[in-house]
Amino acid sequence: MLYSAAYTRLYIPEESRSVNRFLRIIVIFTIFMNTTSPYRVLFVCLGNICRSPAAEIIFNALAGQAGIAGQVQADSCGTASYHTGSKPDARMLDALERAGYRYGGHRARTFRRADFSEFDLIVPQDEYNEQDIRQLARNATDEAKVRGMWQWFSEQEKEHSVPDPYYGGPAGFDAVVALLTRSIQNLVEEIKMQIAD
Ligand code: 4NP
Repeated sequence: MLYSAAYTRLYIPEESRSVNRFLRIIVIFTIFMNTTSPYRVLFVCLGNICRSPAAEIIFNALAGQAGIAGQVQADSCGTASYHTGSKPDARMLDALERAGYRYGGHRARTFRRADFSEFDLIVPQDEYNEQDIRQLARNATDEAKVRGMWQWFSEQEKEHSVPDPYYGGPAGFDAVVALLTRSIQNLVEEIKMQIAD
Protein backbone atom coordinates (compact mmCIF):
# COMPACT_ATOMS: atom_id res chain seq x y z
CA MET A 1 0.00 0.00 0.00
CA LEU A 2 2.75 2.36 1.05
CA TYR A 3 4.69 1.36 -2.01
CA SER A 4 1.74 1.89 -4.36
CA ALA A 5 0.97 5.38 -2.92
CA ALA A 6 4.58 6.40 -3.34
CA TYR A 7 4.58 4.97 -6.84
CA THR A 8 1.39 6.86 -7.71
CA ARG A 9 2.78 10.13 -6.33
CA LEU A 10 5.96 9.71 -8.33
CA TYR A 11 4.28 8.37 -11.43
CA ILE A 12 1.69 11.11 -12.03
CA PRO A 13 4.10 14.08 -12.14
CA GLU A 14 6.37 12.12 -14.43
CA GLU A 15 3.48 11.38 -16.78
CA SER A 16 2.31 14.98 -16.88
CA ARG A 17 5.91 16.07 -17.50
CA SER A 18 6.08 13.86 -20.56
CA VAL A 19 2.63 15.06 -21.74
CA ASN A 20 3.91 18.61 -21.35
CA ARG A 21 7.06 17.79 -23.27
CA PHE A 22 4.98 16.13 -25.99
CA LEU A 23 2.66 19.17 -26.30
CA ARG A 24 5.65 21.51 -26.46
CA ILE A 25 7.13 19.46 -29.32
CA ILE A 26 3.77 19.61 -31.19
CA VAL A 27 3.57 23.41 -30.78
CA ILE A 28 7.18 23.92 -31.93
CA PHE A 29 6.64 21.56 -34.87
CA THR A 30 3.42 23.41 -35.89
CA ILE A 31 5.16 26.81 -35.75
CA PHE A 32 8.08 25.38 -37.72
CA MET A 33 5.75 23.93 -40.39
CA ASN A 34 3.80 27.19 -40.72
CA THR A 35 6.84 29.41 -41.00
CA THR A 36 8.71 27.20 -43.45
CA SER A 37 5.87 26.05 -45.70
CA PRO A 38 7.15 26.77 -49.24
CA TYR A 39 5.21 28.49 -52.02
CA ARG A 40 4.46 25.67 -54.46
CA VAL A 41 4.30 26.15 -58.22
CA LEU A 42 3.20 23.53 -60.76
CA PHE A 43 4.02 24.04 -64.45
CA VAL A 44 1.75 22.18 -66.88
CA CYS A 45 2.02 21.38 -70.61
CA LEU A 46 0.71 18.55 -72.79
CA GLY A 47 3.36 15.82 -72.56
CA ASN A 48 5.54 17.04 -69.65
CA ILE A 49 8.66 16.35 -71.67
CA CYS A 50 9.37 19.75 -73.31
CA ARG A 51 7.88 23.03 -72.03
CA SER A 52 6.82 22.34 -68.43
CA PRO A 53 9.96 20.46 -67.31
CA ALA A 54 11.99 23.29 -68.89
CA ALA A 55 9.88 25.82 -66.94
CA GLU A 56 10.50 23.84 -63.73
CA ILE A 57 14.28 23.73 -64.30
CA ILE A 58 14.44 27.44 -65.20
CA PHE A 59 12.25 28.39 -62.23
CA ASN A 60 14.50 26.50 -59.80
CA ALA A 61 17.61 28.17 -61.24
CA LEU A 62 16.14 31.69 -61.18
CA ALA A 63 14.61 31.25 -57.71
CA GLY A 64 18.10 30.24 -56.54
CA GLN A 65 19.63 33.36 -58.12
CA ALA A 66 16.90 35.50 -56.48
CA GLY A 67 17.75 34.00 -53.07
CA ILE A 68 14.33 32.35 -52.52
CA ALA A 69 15.22 28.71 -53.28
CA GLY A 70 14.35 27.64 -49.73
CA GLN A 71 10.96 29.33 -49.83
CA VAL A 72 9.60 27.88 -53.08
CA GLN A 73 9.04 24.46 -54.55
CA ALA A 74 8.40 23.64 -58.21
CA ASP A 75 7.11 20.61 -60.07
CA SER A 76 5.74 19.97 -63.55
CA CYS A 77 3.28 17.62 -65.22
CA GLY A 78 1.31 17.03 -68.41
CA THR A 79 -2.38 16.96 -69.23
CA ALA A 80 -1.79 13.79 -71.32
CA SER A 81 -0.31 10.56 -70.00
CA TYR A 82 1.50 9.17 -73.04
CA HIS A 83 4.99 10.11 -71.81
CA THR A 84 4.50 9.20 -68.14
CA GLY A 85 7.80 8.11 -66.56
CA SER A 86 9.95 9.54 -69.39
CA LYS A 87 12.89 11.92 -69.04
CA PRO A 88 12.48 15.33 -70.71
CA ASP A 89 12.95 15.30 -74.49
CA ALA A 90 16.69 15.16 -75.32
CA ARG A 91 16.32 18.19 -77.63
CA MET A 92 14.94 20.23 -74.72
CA LEU A 93 17.74 19.08 -72.42
CA ASP A 94 20.26 20.14 -75.09
CA ALA A 95 18.64 23.58 -75.41
CA LEU A 96 18.62 23.99 -71.62
CA GLU A 97 22.29 23.01 -71.47
CA ARG A 98 23.15 25.53 -74.22
CA ALA A 99 21.50 28.21 -72.05
CA GLY A 100 23.44 27.09 -68.97
CA TYR A 101 20.70 25.19 -67.09
CA ARG A 102 21.08 21.75 -65.49
CA TYR A 103 18.52 18.92 -65.46
CA GLY A 104 17.67 17.70 -61.96
CA GLY A 105 16.15 14.29 -62.78
CA HIS A 106 12.44 14.98 -63.37
CA ARG A 107 10.25 12.20 -64.85
CA ALA A 108 6.99 12.93 -66.65
CA ARG A 109 3.72 12.57 -64.80
CA THR A 110 0.08 13.43 -65.49
CA PHE A 111 -1.91 16.20 -63.80
CA ARG A 112 -4.26 14.95 -61.07
CA ARG A 113 -7.09 16.73 -59.23
CA ALA A 114 -5.17 16.52 -55.94
CA ASP A 115 -2.62 18.93 -57.48
CA PHE A 116 -5.16 21.71 -56.88
CA SER A 117 -4.75 21.11 -53.14
CA GLU A 118 -1.01 20.55 -53.21
CA PHE A 119 0.03 23.67 -55.15
CA ASP A 120 -0.46 27.40 -54.64
CA LEU A 121 -0.06 28.28 -58.30
CA ILE A 122 -0.73 26.18 -61.43
CA VAL A 123 0.81 27.50 -64.65
CA PRO A 124 -0.36 26.03 -67.99
CA GLN A 125 1.89 26.75 -70.94
CA ASP A 126 -0.82 27.23 -73.58
CA GLU A 127 -4.57 27.80 -73.78
CA TYR A 128 -5.32 24.10 -74.46
CA ASN A 129 -3.51 23.05 -71.26
CA GLU A 130 -5.37 25.83 -69.47
CA GLN A 131 -8.78 24.60 -70.71
CA ASP A 132 -7.99 21.00 -69.75
CA ILE A 133 -6.90 22.02 -66.24
CA ARG A 134 -9.84 24.37 -65.69
CA GLN A 135 -12.26 21.56 -66.59
CA LEU A 136 -10.90 19.57 -63.64
CA ALA A 137 -11.25 22.44 -61.13
CA ARG A 138 -13.54 21.51 -58.23
CA ASN A 139 -14.41 25.03 -57.10
CA ALA A 140 -13.53 28.72 -57.38
CA THR A 141 -10.44 28.26 -55.15
CA ASP A 142 -9.01 25.72 -57.63
CA GLU A 143 -9.86 27.99 -60.57
CA ALA A 144 -8.11 30.96 -58.98
CA LYS A 145 -4.83 29.02 -58.80
CA VAL A 146 -4.66 28.61 -62.60
CA ARG A 147 -2.71 31.39 -64.35
CA GLY A 148 -1.27 30.92 -67.84
CA MET A 149 2.47 31.40 -68.37
CA TRP A 150 1.65 34.35 -70.65
CA GLN A 151 0.56 36.36 -67.62
CA TRP A 152 4.27 36.96 -67.00
CA PHE A 153 5.20 37.72 -70.63
CA SER A 154 6.74 41.13 -71.18
CA GLU A 155 5.05 43.50 -73.64
CA GLN A 156 7.82 42.81 -76.18
CA GLU A 157 6.64 39.21 -76.71
CA LYS A 158 5.00 38.33 -80.02
CA GLU A 159 3.68 35.03 -78.65
CA HIS A 160 0.37 34.60 -76.81
CA SER A 161 1.41 31.32 -75.18
CA VAL A 162 4.50 29.11 -74.97
CA PRO A 163 4.72 27.49 -78.44
CA ASP A 164 4.95 23.71 -78.60
CA PRO A 165 8.46 22.95 -79.97
CA TYR A 166 7.91 19.16 -80.25
CA TYR A 167 7.49 18.92 -84.05
CA GLY A 168 10.14 21.52 -84.91
CA GLY A 169 13.93 21.90 -84.93
CA PRO A 170 16.48 23.05 -82.32
CA ALA A 171 15.78 26.77 -82.90
CA GLY A 172 12.24 26.26 -81.57
CA PHE A 173 13.60 24.69 -78.38
CA ASP A 174 16.08 27.57 -77.92
CA ALA A 175 13.26 30.08 -78.44
CA VAL A 176 11.12 28.36 -75.76
CA VAL A 177 14.02 28.40 -73.28
CA ALA A 178 14.59 32.12 -73.95
CA LEU A 179 10.88 32.96 -73.65
CA LEU A 180 10.55 30.96 -70.43
CA THR A 181 13.66 32.61 -68.99
CA ARG A 182 12.27 36.11 -69.61
CA SER A 183 8.81 35.25 -68.23
CA ILE A 184 9.98 33.26 -65.23
CA GLN A 185 12.20 36.18 -64.21
CA ASN A 186 8.96 38.18 -63.88
CA LEU A 187 7.20 35.33 -62.07
CA VAL A 188 10.06 34.91 -59.57
CA GLU A 189 10.04 38.68 -58.88
CA GLU A 190 6.30 38.53 -58.19
CA ILE A 191 6.62 35.55 -55.84
CA LYS A 192 9.58 37.16 -54.07
CA MET A 193 7.51 40.26 -53.32
CA GLN A 194 4.56 38.11 -52.21
CA ILE A 195 6.75 36.10 -49.82
CA ALA A 196 8.23 39.29 -48.35
CA ASP A 197 4.75 40.73 -47.52
P1 4NP B 1 5.20 19.38 -74.27
O1 4NP B 1 5.47 18.94 -75.80
O2 4NP B 1 3.70 19.41 -74.10
O3 4NP B 1 5.82 20.71 -74.19
O4 4NP B 1 5.87 18.33 -73.41
C1 4NP B 1 4.92 17.81 -76.41
C2 4NP B 1 5.40 16.57 -76.07
C3 4NP B 1 4.87 15.46 -76.72
C4 4NP B 1 3.89 15.60 -77.69
C5 4NP B 1 3.43 16.86 -78.02
C6 4NP B 1 3.94 17.97 -77.37
N1 4NP B 1 3.39 14.47 -78.35
O5 4NP B 1 2.54 14.63 -79.24
O6 4NP B 1 3.82 13.34 -78.05
